[in-house]
Amino acid sequence: MANTAKFRIFRFDPEKDRDYRFQDYEVPLEPGMTVLNALFYIQDNLDQSLCFRVSCRAGICGSCAMHIGGKYRLACETQASIAKDSRVTIRPLAHLPIIRDLVVDMAPFWAHYKKIQPYLQPGTPDPERERSQTPAERSRLDILIDCILCASCHASCPMTASDEAYLGPAALVKANRFAVDSRDNALEQRLKIVGDEHGVFRCHTVFNCSLACPKEIDPAGSIGNLKRLATKHFLCKPEVR
Ligand code: SF4
Ligand code: FES
Repeated sequence: MANTAKFRIFRFDPEKDRDYRFQDYEVPLEPGMTVLNALFYIQDNLDQSLCFRVSCRAGICGSCAMHIGGKYRLACETQASIAKDSRVTIRPLAHLPIIRDLVVDMAPFWAHYKKIQPYLQPGTPDPERERSQTPAERSRLDILIDCILCASCHASCPMTASDEAYLGPAALVKANRFAVDSRDNALEQRLKIVGDEHGVFRCHTVFNCSLACPKEIDPAGSIGNLKRLATKHFLCKPEVR
């Protein structure tokens, strides 16, 4: 085929396979075709057994994050032409159990997310209308609220590979998002959660998470801020630890 994209895709079906393998596919390129479109082409025309996760197809839900051509990317936001000149390998997210092919079990990721209490805790009764913020206070949440929970940062982090209990960059971004929110009043409790042995101080500042994030959120920056807040807090009030 002349104008084609060539992919080598990770395959593993726990019901049939004893070990994982890679399978090659060649897809006719269309203008504007994404890697996600190419996966659908494979599923519709070449191999119905190929499994992948998808939802919004618009870079919003985070479902289609996978390792494409040496980098974590969203399949729905990556042009298939990336595989025009040489074969591109696609793998599932790392450091999460594989359900089948490119689909991983996100349960451990969500368990860490739940641990950091990802909701506003103002500590006061609900007001009649909204809890207001000044534009400057609101601007502190910019970028942080853009996280789509795709788990690319989690998969790229060497610490999530070596310590299963490590909260991981995505959960820590969310913890920082509430730590800097002027409406939240649970900072001490939040710092106790992120300051334990599987929290921010596990991070070795490798910056893989910031390189991997498709939304340019800089999880390493959030972790750095939490380390600073936790250090200050525990040094001033060591009894809270
Ligand atoms: Fe994905 Fe970035 Fe959020 Fe991590 S911080 S889950 S890479 S959007
Ligand atoms: Fe939702 Fe790609 S399908 S981000």
